[in-house]
Order: sequence, then C-alpha cells, then structure tokens
Amino acid sequence: MTPITSLTAPMNKSNPDYCHKLAAQLSTPIYIGGKIIPNRLWLAPMAGLTHSAFRQVLNHYGSCGLVFTEMCSAKAVPTENPKVSPVFKWHKWELPGLVCQLAGSTPEEMVIAAKRVEQEGFFGVDINMGCSARGMIKREAGAALLKTPEKAVAVVEAVREAVSIPVFVKFRTGWSKEIAPAVALSKRLEEAGADCLVFHPRVAPDKRTRPPFIDHIRSIKEAVTIPVFGNGDVTTPQHCQNMLDRTGCDGVSVGRMAVARPWLFAQWTSGFTPDETIFQDYVLRLADALEQDFDPIRGIKRFRLFMAYYAANFRFGHSLQATFSTAKSMDDVRRMAKEYIKPGMALSQTPNMNLYSP
Ligand SMILES: Cc1cc2nc3c(=O)[nH]c(=O)nc-3n(C[C@H](O)[C@H](O)[C@H](O)COP(=O)(O)O)c2cc1C
Repeated sequence: MTPITSLTAPMNKSNPDYCHKLAAQLSTPIYIGGKIIPNRLWLAPMAGLTHSAFRQVLNHYGSCGLVFTEMCSAKAVPTENPKVSPVFKWHKWELPGLVCQLAGSTPEEMVIAAKRVEQEGFFGVDINMGCSARGMIKREAGAALLKTPEKAVAVVEAVREAVSIPVFVKFRTGWSKEIAPAVALSKRLEEAGADCLVFHPRVAPDKRTRPPFIDHIRSIKEAVTIPVFGNGDVTTPQHCQNMLDRTGCDGVSVGRMAVARPWLFAQWTSGFTPDETIFQDYVLRLADALEQDFDPIRGIKRFRLFMAYYAANFRFGHSLQATFSTAKSMDDVRRMAKEYIKPGMALSQTPNMNLYSP
C-alpha cells in the first residue's frame, strides 16, 4: 500500500464540523525545537492503537500535524529490530512527521534509547510521564516520574544533552489534585531543555472516567515559554475550540477520537467532508495495513482493541463490536465490514463512553 498524504475528496466549508476560526488557528504552523510543524492538531500516543498500520491509514486521510508512536520501552529500544518489533516499527516515509515516545525510568536508559531514535531519523523524541498502568509504575517509569521531580528533570536534562532533535514531554497533573506541583515541574522541564509539553490534566490514577480539568492547561501554559499542547476528551471541533480558547494552549493532541475517526484532522483543519462510505473504507484500509505490518495473531488482537473505539461512533456500537469480535482473520474482518458497515447506520452524537472509556 503506498501512502497518500492528502485526500482529493470534496471539501465543503459549510459542513457542521468545519469552523473557519478553528481551522485557521489549527492550520498555523508552529516551530518546535527549531523544526517547523505544519499544523497544531496532533495524534496522541496510544499503546496498541497508534502502531504503524493505524498511522498508515491516518496518513491516507491526511492533515495530522504531528504523529506520535505508541510508547516504546527505553530498555528495549536499543536492541529492537524494527522488522519484528510490534511497537518500534515505522514506515520510512513517516519519519519526518513522527515522534517516538519512550517510557523509561533512568536518565541512562533514556539516553541510549533517545540516541537510537535520533539515529533512525525520527522528527523527535517524547518522554512518557503520563502512563499510570500498574506495570509502568512498578518499573518507576511513566507517571511514576512525577513522584520524583528530581528524576524527571534529570531524565529530560540527559536526553536534551544527548540528542539534537526536539524533545517533548507528555505528562499529567501528578498524584494529587493540586496543580502547583505540575506547574513547578513544567518550569523545571523547560529549564532542563524540553522543547514542548503535552499536558493531560488528570491525576495519574484517574483512568479517564472523570472529565479532565481543562483549566489546569492554562496554568501550565502560563508557567512556561515553550509551546504547550492540551489533551483530553476532545471529540468535537467545539471541544477543540473550547480547549484553545479557555487555556491559551498552542495546539491540541487528540487520542481516542482520532482512532474513532482518523479523518477528523482533515475535517477540522481543512473542511474535508466525508460521506458515510468512509466508515467502511476505514475498516477495509486498516485490515489491509494490519495484515501488511503484523503477523495474523497480533493483527487480529490489534484489530479487536481498535474496534472498541471505532464502535463508539455508532448508536448500536456494542452489537457491532460483538459481531467483529468473532472475526478470526482479516478476511473475516473485510467480509464483515462489507456486510455490516453501511451508509445510514445511526451515529452517536458523542462517542459511546462505555466503549470509549472501558
Ligand atoms: C488505549 C490507550 C493507550 C494509551 N497509551 C498511551 C501511551 O502509550 N503513552 C501516552 O503518553 N499516553 C497513552 N494514552 C493516553 C492518551 O495519549 C491520551 O492522553 C488520553 O487518551 C486522553 O486523550 P483523549 O481523550 O483524546 O483520548 C493511552 C490512552 C489509551 C486510551
């Protein structure tokens, strides 16, 4: 499958998902660490979801300013073989717009991994200070670094010293509701050499069930001079505009909704208007890409994970998910997509939260 960087599908600037103000704001290029990025609507890193196959489909629909890999273990990266690794894997053409996210706990392991990321030609390196999965915390990585600000700063300082590509930090509020520690840390991360902060305003143990505290993004934005991107529960152009207006953040990073509708980048930034055949088109493209990039067992596992977020698009998403959960191969997936995903299916106004926030 060859990548297509922009769609030739019709642009309809009167569609309800197109807002001139938002599009203009999002389409303003931004410099990060001396490198230019064409727009301010980015894909958030998501384990098991933002793999090379999904990114290939995302690229087909176009207009995502910057793409992040799922988290890659800093311990594993130095010896990973991209030909067989399920996570440290990419298509050569995506490297100029792809940031590799690393999860690790010590400056030493992060430096070795970051050097490899730079050597491979990624746009930048992102340091995970947001994941609070039990295994991650046990390894003192991800959001665990927010418990030890000295260590978090040392990691950024060491990575900054080791590479010349842009250094991003994705982090959460921390382990208590107060924003003051995150504000203090963000200043220190800037001093340590971070080029951009992506902030998800939830406390670390919160599994995305309660709404994020959007106003905390403003506190981080006002604390530093480097760009700050906001993240969390943005599913509509209105949410995106609200986050920009209320917080003054420089741009927005979208996670789950980008998996549900990867064409939203083209919709919100350039007025791309999909017709309803796009829902089937998406599944067929993803099936092909998964087949190309993964062995059959991994491919179908990735497909099942994706299905929850995709099914959240539909009013009867649960039954769609149940149907697809019986697929044993990509041929099954393609057959089911042609049989069950049809124009006219009832769409949810907002994603079905039972599927979206399991
Ligand atoms: C399945 C899943 C996997 C995730 N994996 C990562 C990850 O590897 N690294 C990371 O920094 N955040 C990860 N996140 C968090 C997202 O990047 C994002 O912060 C969160 O989903 C909120 O944004 P959203 O409401 O736009 O989805 C993950 C989220 C989900 C749902």
